[in-house]
Amino acid sequence: MTVRHFLDLSDAGGDAIAAMIGDAIDRKAARRDWAKGKPDADAPLAGHVLAMIFEKSSTRTRVSFDMAMRQLGGSAIIMEAGSMQLGRGESIADTARVLSRMVDAIMIRTDDHAKIEELAANATVPVINGLTDRSHPCQIVADLLTLIEHGKALPGLEIAWLGDGNNVLHSVLEAAGLMKFNVRIGCPAGYEPDPEFIAIARAGGARIDVTQDAAEAANGADVIVTDTWVSMGQDHAEAKLAAMHPFQVNAALMAQAKPDALFLHCLPAHVGDEVTQDIIEGPQSVVFDEAENRLHGQKSILRWVFGQL
Ligand code: CP
Ligand code: NVA
Repeated sequence: MTVRHFLDLSDAGGDAIAAMIGDAIDRKAARRDWAKGKPDADAPLAGHVLAMIFEKSSTRTRVSFDMAMRQLGGSAIIMEAGSMQLGRGESIADTARVLSRMVDAIMIRTDDHAKIEELAANATVPVINGLTDRSHPCQIVADLLTLIEHGKALPGLEIAWLGDGNNVLHSVLEAAGLMKFNVRIGCPAGYEPDPEFIAIARAGGARIDVTQDAAEAANGADVIVTDTWVSMGQDHAEAKLAAMHPFQVNAALMAQAKPDALFLHCLPAHVGDEVTQDIIEGPQSVVFDEAENRLHGQKSILRWVFGQL
């Protein structure tokens, strides 16, 4: 069988993403109120080890994958790239070949997407994208799970993205084409997402609108999503922050959306910048369900790469 990598959502496709979300809902319900480190009853990844490589900071991705492996009956090894020979110049190809001899899967958080492609090309075990400068597919599995849990059916859903056209938005766009929802992007000129992702979404049948008017993007939306204005590895450029300010998710902007609209943010948040305190702490915000769902989503992504879904 060919190795299943999860570098982007399209590696799995819409049916597999739907299966992951269904599996996550079932597994989450089956272990409600259990001690968090207790393995699921069937321990489907017993004996399996995931190696994680971090070239950037992480709280949610790191802990959710570690706990996911424990709950699936396996275990994880967490490595900072700077403490590996990778950080001293050992090649990605050799790192991939060595780790493939010792562990069952590799997750990496890195900068240049070409690095994860090279890792996957040289690995003989599954490679999972824990965020690159280009995309963040694991986040979107958790986001879609959260929306479904809160009663939002995906087909035809109107999702408004406000702010920077970044890695997380790229994966939202990829999901739109696969799961048939629509995205209105409100962002300043010069900070649009990569047109390749808009084209992918449209080719999948999604309606994608791009506007420089924040209220127009939010108007009538079912979901409002934002993210940091300065992603890891980017400069805190004053010009960018000033350009982003009209796209802040605040009460006036939220009022443009449907009354039962949800607010999503992958976290970490910069309260007072991309979102105000009243919104992220308010009744429409589901950001901590979203964060918890990183754990449940990772478990189903792991089961998929191992051919269990
Ligand atoms: N949302 C997310 O990926 O969080 P971390 O950077 O903490 O992993
Ligand atoms: N866009 C953010 C997401 C962090 C989880 C970043 O890349 O820093």
